[in-house]
Amino acid sequence: MVIMKIVDLRSDTVTKPSPEMWEYVKSMGNSSLGDDVMGEDPTVNELEEKAAKLIGKESALLVTSGTQGNLLSFLSQTKPGDEILLEEQSHIFLNEVGSAARIGGLMIRSYPSVRGTPSFEYLQSLIRDKEEIHEPPSTLFCTENTHNYHGGAIVELNVLKKMNDFSKKNDLRFHMDGARVFNAAIGLNVPVTEITKHSDSVMFCLSKGLSCPVGSIVAGSKEFISKARRFRKMVGGGMRQAGIIAAFGIVALEPKWINRLADDHKNAKLLSEGLKNLNLPIKVHPTDTNIVVLEMLEKVRILKIVTALNKAGILAFNISKEKIRFVTHYGINVDDINYSIEQIGLALQQNL
Ligand SMILES: Cc1ncc(COP(=O)(O)O)c(C=O)c1O
Repeated sequence: MVIMKIVDLRSDTVTKPSPEMWEYVKSMGNSSLGDDVMGEDPTVNELEEKAAKLIGKESALLVTSGTQGNLLSFLSQTKPGDEILLEEQSHIFLNEVGSAARIGGLMIRSYPSVRGTPSFEYLQSLIRDKEEIHEPPSTLFCTENTHNYHGGAIVELNVLKKMNDFSKKNDLRFHMDGARVFNAAIGLNVPVTEITKHSDSVMFCLSKGLSCPVGSIVAGSKEFISKARRFRKMVGGGMRQAGIIAAFGIVALEPKWINRLADDHKNAKLLSEGLKNLNLPIKVHPTDTNIVVLEMLEKVRILKIVTALNKAGILAFNISKEKIRFVTHYGINVDDINYSIEQIGLALQQNL
């Protein structure tokens, strides 16, 4: 029987824990666990303290997912009927089932951007007049860093500063969907706090490039986190002996593990360069971090290409009618990338 090689480039969420993480978890006993809803799980408390310190915020909270973390950030910083500003290709706007509207009762105003960077003039035109009784108040601005559908684009530090100034000037809270904020920090070669210092709240995922099985973190002021803790309970996110999950995160937040993300970036670059060299009617978007976006320049049924890739063992997602996204992560090596370039080239040649 021939076993086909599978290279899973669908997402960094497919990652599994490292042997070091398992060693740590295996060394735990019942004394490492407690009821986290009562604030008594020592491992969760350790992770939350470690995360808050690392990300440069007063306090942090372990949540079940990035989606939950973003929602809690909105619930804790807005009121139903408020208007919030979301980037039009952002994960929250496109892929979080409209939870801000359905659960948070929020009006959503979307804004365009070039790889996550908006026009501040345009943003300013979206701000509602507080004195005008017909209008909902604008109360929160949101960015995504790195930006998933813009191909893992990094929102630069000077832009984050402008976003912060814009938010302050207009009395808005500033939330960062930092699902992959450590990729941004590694990409910019700066401490992550240089990025997160600009926003009031930040969410980052443990379950993506950091390769934990479950969990995300929200961080911000003590007051914000105590509100978020209450809302977490409300949406059913209060877990009990959650230390068993948090333990993976404690290892993942070690510098050695965070720095490993640089390998994913190198592999993404390799893929991106390899695809460019194919000389086919495709556009390879700029690759800042661990995401490569390939755009078809000729009219083609994108699912036909994705299916051909799947048949060749290359797993990837189409993110629009023209674009396919490839994500590098722990578990993907240089051989996988070289094999992928070859197979993607063949699939494109046969189907374009
Ligand atoms: C930018 C971004 N934000 C938030 C999320 C949501 O994370 P989760 O899948 O843990 O809910 C994702 C997931 O892919 C994401 O890419």
